[in-house]
Amino acid sequence: MLFSMHHPNNLIMPTTSNSKKTAPAKAATKKKSASPANAGDSLLQEYFVESLQDVYYAEKAITKALPKMIGASTSSELISAFEDHLAVTEEQITRLEQVFESIGEKAKGKKCDAIEGLIKESESVIEDTEDGTATRDVGLIMAGQKVEHYEIATYGGLVQLAQTLGHDKASGLLQQTLDEEKETDELLTSIAENNVNYEASEEKE
Ligand SMILES: [Fe+2]
Repeated sequence: MLFSMHHPNNLIMPTTSNSKKTAPAKAATKKKSASPANAGDSLLQEYFVESLQDVYYAEKAITKALPKMIGASTSSELISAFEDHLAVTEEQITRLEQVFESIGEKAKGKKCDAIEGLIKESESVIEDTEDGTATRDVGLIMAGQKVEHYEIATYGGLVQLAQTLGHDKASGLLQQTLDEEKETDELLTSIAENNVNYEASEEKE
């Protein structure tokens, strides 16, 4: 029954999630008080720069990993999704360089263990599955989506940090990349749902 949703106990959840949703608006208000001039030496600013270095390293690692994933894929839809994402990732690297520039920092990477692990996982998918199978495509889609989710979490956090620190230009640039990562994630879901998973379910040893 729909009415059971209005039980007072059930109202706790929506209230909590609503208060979370107001967080970005609060951050947006605060950014006006934090000028980029005095943000330069704060601990948060330092953390922001390090996080940018981390994702800069990650994006470069992804451009090296994607060609292998393209070569190992069978579905033409999946191949073109990975190819498109390779081109998009190259643009994202350039965009990150603009982010560094906009806050007066030099673009440089710092080893990111998370992406190394996720890329290794995509390599084990290739080792553990047979060439030309939809089952391998399923594994590659999952590996690709783990990378996307990592990036969505990272860019989501970076957009918020940029806003808090008053880096409006950086925030806009990072938001563009965040949107692209979400699109890729959705595209991979639809490729799995519409085709690849079913084909894989028909495959026998
Ligand atoms: Fe990316």
